[in-house]
Amino acid sequence: NQPLPRDTLARPLRDLRLSLIEACNFRCPYCMPADRIADDHGLDAASRLSFDQIETLVRGFARLGVRKLRLTGGEPLLRKRLPELVARLAAIEGIDDLALTSNGSLLAAQARALRAVGLRRITVSLDTLDADAFRALSGGRGELRDVLAGIEAAQAAGFAPIKLNCVVQRGVNDAGIEALAGFAREHGHVLRFIEYMDVGTCNGWSRERVVPSAELRDRIAARWPLRPLDPNYRGEVAERYAYADGQGEVGFVSSVSAPFCGDCHRARVSADGQLYTCLFAGQGHDLRGVLAQGEDALAAHVAGLWSRRADRYSEIRSEAGASRKHVEMYLVGG
Ligand code: GTP
Ligand code: 5AD
Ligand code: SF4
Ligand code: SF4
Repeated sequence: NQPLPRDTLARPLRDLRLSLIEACNFRCPYCMPADRIADDHGLDAASRLSFDQIETLVRGFARLGVRKLRLTGGEPLLRKRLPELVARLAAIEGIDDLALTSNGSLLAAQARALRAVGLRRITVSLDTLDADAFRALSGGRGELRDVLAGIEAAQAAGFAPIKLNCVVQRGVNDAGIEALAGFAREHGHVLRFIEYMDVGTCNGWSRERVVPSAELRDRIAARWPLRPLDPNYRGEVAERYAYADGQGEVGFVSSVSAPFCGDCHRARVSADGQLYTCLFAGQGHDLRGVLAQGEDALAAHVAGLWSRRADRYSEIRSEAGASRKHVEMYLVGG
């Protein structure tokens, strides 16, 4: 039996964020700007882990204490035969929470099948309710109505509550936050506002674009009074607030203004089998070789890597030594 690893800051490994595909049907300027990332961007289906490899990988991580698995992309619903894979992952002992983060555009057709095979939770990215702004924010590839239909279908399929992620950029979509909050309240969704982060290398991030969560929270509270809630689990990324009128809750992810590295129990694996121990890591660790030797070998190898982990990028972002080389967002799915 593999002892549960702790990293150099005594953090255990609890969550795995697994990217199933590096491709996306959107070109959000903050993630895959169309002028920087061509439609054929070099990676191909052949480099992706197979379903067998993915299952072995998740079994190995479960041995190390991972209880929560989040499937990401790119856009994970583009992965062929996804329900078949989800069924296999849902059956793995130890994985108590199986979630997926999607742009929602393809969800209307797939929500029911995913629910039926054991997916527990869905989070949909939704930065604006303005159809024109939505088109621009998806790089001209997405239609708001498809995403709204996807959210509705997921709710009808029994995913409840659905989480909505809004990345807020000053001067881009910050005027619409009350509209989004009103929409989420009305439909029973849990909206989370996310501070715009300097992930990847192509989004031309600047601190002026970041709207600190405190400012967003004050604006929302001015309209609908809020009361702080305890985290659902230690190390939860979003800070939660209840609407005082009982109409649900809202969250804030403040990786820029209030970093949460101290409780970061997350590992990320890209679709081609690279382990990243931080969202801002410059370099991954190739797991494909050891994966071929089975889940025991994988678990032992990852335990070694995890025990050497020292990442805390969000806490040292402004310091001189902080590296500017970061894995791309579409490779690790946030
Ligand atoms: P829950 O399981 O519902 O708590 O999901 P989550 O909030 O962990 O996942 P989601 O995919 O919805 O991510 C929300 C936002 O938090 C995204 O912008 C992620 O990139 C960001 N995020 C998640 N984990 C981390 C992390 O470890 N570090 C940083 N800096 N950001 C993170
Ligand atoms: N900053 C913060 N969040 C981001 N996401 C994508 N790019 C960024 C960024 N630069 C979000 C997506 C998705 C989640 C996984 O990460 O919108 O909801
Ligand atoms: Fe696709 Fe999500 Fe990146 Fe947008 S943020 S390009 S939807 S992976
Ligand atoms: Fe974890 Fe890195 Fe995010 Fe800090 S910046 S919370 S170490 S993923």
